[in-house]
Amino acid sequence: MTSELFKIGIVGAGAMGAGIAQVAARAGHRVSVFDTNKEALVTSRKKLEELLNRLVDKNRMSEEDAGHLFNRIVWVSTLEDLAGSNLVIEAIVENLEIKKKVFSELEGLVDQECILASNTSSLSIAAISSSCNNKARVMGIHFFNPAPFMPLVEVIPAIGTDLKLIDSVVELMKKWNKTPVTAKDTPGFIVNRIARPFYGEALRIYEEGREGLPEGIAGFATIDWAMREIGGFKMGPFELMDYIGNDVNFAVTESVFSAFFYDPRYRPSITQRRYSEAGWLGRKSGRGYYDYSDNAEQVKPLKDKELGNKIVDRIVCMLINEAVDAVYLRIASADDIELAMIRGVNYPKGLLAWGKEIGYNKVLSQINELHKVYNEDRYRTSPLLSKWAKES
Ligand SMILES: NC(=O)c1ccc[n+]([C@@H]2O[C@H](COP(=O)([O-])OP(=O)(O)OC[C@H]3O[C@@H](n4cnc5c(N)ncnc54)[C@H](O)[C@@H]3O)[C@@H](O)[C@H]2O)c1
Repeated sequence: MTSELFKIGIVGAGAMGAGIAQVAARAGHRVSVFDTNKEALVTSRKKLEELLNRLVDKNRMSEEDAGHLFNRIVWVSTLEDLAGSNLVIEAIVENLEIKKKVFSELEGLVDQECILASNTSSLSIAAISSSCNNKARVMGIHFFNPAPFMPLVEVIPAIGTDLKLIDSVVELMKKWNKTPVTAKDTPGFIVNRIARPFYGEALRIYEEGREGLPEGIAGFATIDWAMREIGGFKMGPFELMDYIGNDVNFAVTESVFSAFFYDPRYRPSITQRRYSEAGWLGRKSGRGYYDYSDNAEQVKPLKDKELGNKIVDRIVCMLINEAVDAVYLRIASADDIELAMIRGVNYPKGLLAWGKEIGYNKVLSQINELHKVYNEDRYRTSPLLSKWAKES
């Protein structure tokens, strides 16, 4: 079937729905976008038009291509308008009951062969699919924000999903110029699970001491400096939380934590909760860990190499342990885990390769050392890390 005949339906015209519609239209599909909020439809249409005009002005797209892309998308006012779709991707509010209702309505509208997918970041695909009689065609297709620019897509089969459909969606994502990885239907899938210590361990270090105080470890400016300059990450954890929004990042952490039956390894931070409660959300509110007002004076990092190395080692070892545990629990293949962290969150290298480079025995002893100091299950190592440490 040509792209033109393979029709895509999108439910939700917010940040993600609009971005996914653009990706599908760029790949040549006809796309219908539905949203219950008429304003969201108008806004997303207008934003796309403005974006395409900018791309044409900058000579990054021809006027003809931009016109074709735009004309392939229709913004529709009823869910029934998605009836002729071959694949529907839902990107509405992160609420299980509302998503289930949409899936059960969709099931009665579309053909038997139509694939139904959710872009959920944190809900279980099995729970969403429970609202459908035919669960074989329900899956997760998880894009990253902004969808047109982020290459990674996690494709997630639920318990009852037909794996042949997973294979065809993986192929389809490649045609959309994306990097698909397949993940188990577990909390946070690959990226949002493995990345937790990037924020959590950084917050933990910060909670122990601020810049200017004699005790403690380091403040957020120093942690960010170390992770960027020594660790090679594009952004430090605090800059990134400010960019994502403390409310959004906290909600993901809390949801992963509760979905893991309150495993202490994923425990959220009181500090971040307070920032979120106070409305210090980050860039979008003008104030987060950093002050985004004009001429604001920023806290200076302590550029102490030895301290910086300690910070990076601690956070990176915790990340490596998560990645190794994800291999152990068969959340995804080792290759997909490496790809996911590089292409989904721009990590400077794959965490498994990084573990090898440092030496798994060193990673193990670093975390065991933390366990000795804090005596918390948060510093629990994966059985596979112990095995690889013995072999390294
Ligand atoms: N924002 C991100 O960084 C990100 C990344 C990956 C996945 N996601 C997931 O994508 C989904 C959408 O997130 P978003 O950031 O685009 O949200 P958003 O708030 O920008 O947009 C959601 C849209 O859904 C619409 N909507 C709500 N209920 C609806 C219904 N019953 N039928 C049709 N439309 C409805 C709203 O009017 C709104 O326009 C969520 O499941 C989220 O977890 C978000």
